This record gives sequence, C-alpha cells and structure tokens, in this order.
Amino acid sequence: MLRNKDVLGIRDLEANEILNILETAESMKERIENKTLREKGLKDFSMVTLFYENSTRTKMSFTLAGNYLGANVSDLGVASSSVNKGESLVDTGITLDQMGIDIMVIRHSMSGAANVLARNVKASVINAGDGVNEHPTQALLDLYTIYEKKKDFKNLKVAIIGDIIHSRVARSNIFGLRKLGANVVVGGPSTLISNNIKCLGAQVTTDIKEAIKDADIVMGLRIQLERQKGGLFPDIREYSQIFGVDEEMMKYAKPDALLMHPGPVNRGVELSTEIIDGSQSVINEQVKNGVAVRMALLHLLTERRKHNEDINSKWTNTGSYVKNRWDKRCTG
Ligand code: CP
Repeated sequence: MLRNKDVLGIRDLEANEILNILETAESMKERIENKTLREKGLKDFSMVTLFYENSTRTKMSFTLAGNYLGANVSDLGVASSSVNKGESLVDTGITLDQMGIDIMVIRHSMSGAANVLARNVKASVINAGDGVNEHPTQALLDLYTIYEKKKDFKNLKVAIIGDIIHSRVARSNIFGLRKLGANVVVGGPSTLISNNIKCLGAQVTTDIKEAIKDADIVMGLRIQLERQKGGLFPDIREYSQIFGVDEEMMKYAKPDALLMHPGPVNRGVELSTEIIDGSQSVINEQVKNGVAVRMALLHLLTERRKHNEDINSKWTNTGSYVKNRWDKRCTG
C-alpha cells in the first residue's frame, strides 16, 4: 500500500515504498510472462489517460497495465477534447471526477500540472511526466531494470549523460537512486546542466569520460530539442562528437555495465547505433518492464480505495511542485 493518494514524484516516495513497488513488479512480470493474468484486481476501477504531450511507451504501457488488471481504461484524447475549446486542466479534472474516474494518468508540458490536478480531484493522479519536473514511473521502471540485473543499489555508480537540464527522467532517477544508496554522476555540456542538480545529491562533470569511468550503469538522455530555446550547443553533430556515447566511450565503464535510455532515442546523437543494439544495452528490457512496473503501481495505489478509506481528506499529498522551491534556494 502507498501512503499517498497520488504518485506525483519519486521525491514523495519513501525508499521502502519504492522497494515495495519493485518487488510487486517482479510478480507482475511473472504473471505477464506466464500468461496468468486471470486475477483482475482492478475490475471495479476506471482509469483515464490525459496526455497533453506525445507519448508511445508511457501511454501504451499504462493502457496495457490497466487492461491486464481488469480496469475500465479510456483515453481523453486531449487533441479532440474540450481542452481545445479552452477548458482548463482543473475543470477537465473535475468533469472527469464527476463521472467517477478512479485513476487519472496525466502527462503535461507544465511542471506541477499533475500536482494541480491532484489537489482538485478525488481520483488518484499519476504523473506520467510534467514539464522538466518529474517522470516517476519512468524512474521506477529504470530502477526495476537495475534491480533485476544488479540486485542491489548500494554503492552502484550511475552515470547520467546528456540533456540534464530539460530531463524530468534525470530528476526522478536521481531522487530514486540516491534514496536507494546509489551514487549518481551527471555529465554533459554545462549549458545543459542546471546549477541546482548538485542539491539533489548528484555529482556533476562536463567530462563524460570522467562520468562514465568505472560506472555500473550508463544512462543516456535524449536531446530535447522541443524544450530548447536555442543557443545551448552549437550543433547536433558537434554535440554528438563531444558528448555522444559510443563503443569507445563505453570502454571506460565497468565491463559488465548496463547501457540504458528512457527512449525515444535520437540514434547517432546521444548514443551510437552499435551500442543501442549491443550486448550491454537493456533499452528494450526497460520498455518491457514498464508494463509490469505500472501494473505494480496501479495495484498498490488502489489498495486504499479497495479498503474504502476516506479519499477526500486523510491522505497526505506532499507534492513535488511545491518542494521545487527548495531547489531554487539551493545554489549547489
Ligand atoms: N520514456 C518515455 O516517456 O517515452 P514516451 O514519451 O514514448 O512515453
């Protein structure tokens, strides 16, 4: 069972809650692989996906996870909804709440959007990525993939390389990895690393060889051209030459290091094609694990609703967005 009504960020989860999700995901994965999905624990629940930004992995895996657990799953279809007539996020949420939706899975370009929604609805809200704030379920599936392969997080060195400043995945992973005892080093051009990332407990370097040296995990991040205002690096080719990870660069990591990426990948930009498709890559396994992890999360999140606990007032909802102010105070 989780403490909060909503899952807004890894920042709000305790280490034991994260481990509980990872352990539950293990049994969900077995059920998917053995095709033993008869137990429909969410058959009395309704879930809606509200994606104000594009997605393939997150939206599809939430849809599959909900279906596998027997929930009634629907998609708002934001582009063809009354959002296009100017309806606000809060009014959209209240409208869906009135229809009796139990779980709202939201992706939005604005940091804090999931938190705003959560404060205004009785439904449980899951953040599927909000601006540059958090992408908790991506981090949970990343953590699960590491847990499967390495068994323990203590003293692992995780190198996160690339566009850190725009990455909600990096932030959620740093929160999760630090809570579980791993060391995190971020590497990339200084224009793509915010000053306050050190406040989250990560080391920072602009030398990616130094970041990758003796790493157990190398995590590449997508250059998010859609969030860049321009001028953060001269051009893609030069970026790739200096900060792209290829076979040569992977030799600095430990021989049994895993290569990860949340996807979608810009092939030949942040990672070379050879390593994306190489033996150290677990990128496809990350995608596969996303379904089991989201099933685990839906299962644990609905436990309280099954026990008819008061969904209006009792649950704590600490909220990552408000705490972001702390980041701004910390200058690293
Ligand atoms: N990693 C991730 O969030 O992928 P999508 O944008 O395809 O959901």
